[in-house]
Amino acid sequence: MHFSQYKPRRLPPAPRPAIGALPPPPATKACPALANLIPLADIDPALIEEVLDAAFGPDRFARTAYKVREGTEWLPGLSFAALDEGDHLAGTIQCWPVALTDAAGRRHPMIMVGPVAVLPGLQGTGFGKALVTASLTAIDPRAPLPQVMIGDADYYGRFFGFSAANTGGWRLPGPWDPARLLVRTANPAILPTEGMLGPWRG
Ligand SMILES: CC(C)(COP(=O)(O)OP(=O)(O)OC[C@H]1O[C@@H](n2cnc3c(N)ncnc32)[C@H](O)[C@@H]1OP(=O)(O)O)[C@@H](O)C(=O)NCCC(=O)NCCS
Repeated sequence: MHFSQYKPRRLPPAPRPAIGALPPPPATKACPALANLIPLADIDPALIEEVLDAAFGPDRFARTAYKVREGTEWLPGLSFAALDEGDHLAGTIQCWPVALTDAAGRRHPMIMVGPVAVLPGLQGTGFGKALVTASLTAIDPRAPLPQVMIGDADYYGRFFGFSAANTGGWRLPGPWDPARLLVRTANPAILPTEGMLGPWRG
């Protein structure tokens, strides 16, 4: 298994957005049907950081999720940006190469999904669902690695089938709420019952 297959993929041509700023506060909520998804690699990295700060706050770097993926780069083929109808950046999703290392030292590659970040003024209008759907759909069916994340089961379970049912024996390199350590796979039988989640080092 090589994460290199998730290099940038060419999406269907989209109008080149004028990506230069975050949107003004919305007068009305955006219509999700108008969300335009483009590769995250096409976005200025400074703008990505602005969206993450807005969604998670400036102390986000202390989160355990950052330690899980420490030293890795996000996977361009699975990471997207959502633009609003004015072609302003509305939200982002990043996916990362991680591994669960079991008691025998065997590393099980997984895709870490998130952060999913939607600008506060645009939350609840469908951008989050569009972003997660884009990443999950882009996963190569020939290498359907389990997807792991730290998030609200009420959201990621309800809409995407993530569950904490099989992660009870997993450990993370920092504090975590077991109810928020979620995994999604078509075949839960392949999941190790115990292990430590950390960056994939190929
Ligand atoms: C969580 C987040 C990504 C969801 O994206 P969004 O664009 O706001 O949500 P969507 O419009 O796609 O979905 C809206 C639906 O999800 C529900 N929902 C949104 N956030 C939820 C949450 N944290 N828990 C449970 N349900 C949630 C809404 O109630 C709504 O339900 P409805 O369709 O029945 O009305 C976004 O709110 C966000 O960026 N939050 C701050 C950062 C964060 O916590 N990210 C997730 C951890 S990686």
